[in-house]
Amino acid sequence: MSKKDDNRKNPASEATNTAWGGRFSEQTDAFVEAFTASVQFDQRMYKQDIAGSRAHARMLKKAGVLSKSDCEAILKGLDSVEQEIENGEFDWSVAREDVHMNIEARLTDLIGDAGKRLHTGRSRNDQVATDIRLYLREQIDFIIAQLLEMQKGLLALAQREADTIMPGFTHLQVAQPVTFGHHMLAWFEMLQRDATRMHDCRERMNISPLGAAALAGTSYPVDREFTADELGFSAPAANSLDAVSDRDFAIEFCAASAVLMTHLSRMSEELVMWSSAQFDFIELPDRYCTGSSIMPQKKNPDVPELVRGKTGRVNGNLVSMLTLMKSQPLAYNKDNQEDKEPLFDTIDTVSGSLRAFADMVPAIECKRENMYAAAKQGFSTATDLADYLVRKGLPFRDAHEVVGKAVAFGIESKLDLSEMPLDQLQQFSDMITEDVFDVLTLEGSVAARNHIGGTAPDQVRKAAKAAHKRLLG
Ligand code: ARG
Repeated sequence: MSKKDDNRKNPASEATNTAWGGRFSEQTDAFVEAFTASVQFDQRMYKQDIAGSRAHARMLKKAGVLSKSDCEAILKGLDSVEQEIENGEFDWSVAREDVHMNIEARLTDLIGDAGKRLHTGRSRNDQVATDIRLYLREQIDFIIAQLLEMQKGLLALAQREADTIMPGFTHLQVAQPVTFGHHMLAWFEMLQRDATRMHDCRERMNISPLGAAALAGTSYPVDREFTADELGFSAPAANSLDAVSDRDFAIEFCAASAVLMTHLSRMSEELVMWSSAQFDFIELPDRYCTGSSIMPQKKNPDVPELVRGKTGRVNGNLVSMLTLMKSQPLAYNKDNQEDKEPLFDTIDTVSGSLRAFADMVPAIECKRENMYAAAKQGFSTATDLADYLVRKGLPFRDAHEVVGKAVAFGIESKLDLSEMPLDQLQQFSDMITEDVFDVLTLEGSVAARNHIGGTAPDQVRKAAKAAHKRLLG
């Protein structure tokens, strides 16, 4: 801050804030001016702010509040302001506090008194509540499209790797064999729910605050349906106090985003593990990894690690939003200006992470032999042997006991169940016959789980096809 800015003791006549300076006898402290400003971050809503102003001006003209020529001048002026912003020629000023006043002030510079009439029957409170909704709506649509992109990639991968056998884990211990395609379909389902959460949030959010003005509505004959319609909202907000004050829709978006990031984080964890030398299940594309400046052999999975890490900031943003909202009495309070940074950061983090994943995941290379070899360890077909005995008439608990003994023997003799000779297996139960090997192989094990939601390659192909149809109609 310059010395000049620091020591301003200006008479009222020098007050720069023409939007509300009238009742003030002393100019805002320079620090306070910067401290209370939001233009540094809310300027990204300029398009929505201008769209809202266009709708409001048209409505005022229709209601007979604004003359035709004023309305035309405003619309033309707004076009010029938008052009200036897009050309990078707009002079954003902290003294003009926020995106709304910057745009309005420039409009007035350009067209004179008509510009000053635009704010009739409107407040920055309904204006900002409108802008955020319009902005977030667009961003949600983008995020849903990104989700769709990644989901399509997962379906293609599921089809490609429907026959690829890997160990399935519980407690990160080898449990039962599954197919890699099946695993990708699990990821798909998580994202499918994330997409529906985004859709739900969009729908609840899509109502128009315009006309609520500062808090109580306005004495002008506003047509709230008209502005709602112009801006693609489903209806005007039913209560003016609520319309300008609540940010639950932004909280909801952050909550949906936190769940989405939690999903991406879990996927990241698996990608990191699978690409380690210990698992060695997959190869991540080189363009998504980095090296080490000291260890020449390293190929680090930075992108999944970063996405896992970024989940923390999105969770933090959700907590910020909840905390800033709690304890706020109706209606608008300046606290609400603090909604933007966590909201924008969430949007940027989610869409950056999705962009990376949508590109990286379909390019995963499966090391099929390694996955297969890993599935052969850890007696992953033990349940299949128990099920086999149950089918032969043994109660499940007894079958469990028999197989437990066979596994103990396998650990000692370093033999998988499928590698034991038949007479060896028969020592554990005389119900076992030659056909046992059909179920003890990994292929037999996965093929047996052939029902809706099961891991059998045929089911995976079917499920991927059905999901594709569900997704794209
Ligand atoms: N920049 C403000 C915000 O983000 C706009 C609304 C200001 N309203 C007010 N009454 N001071 O919330």
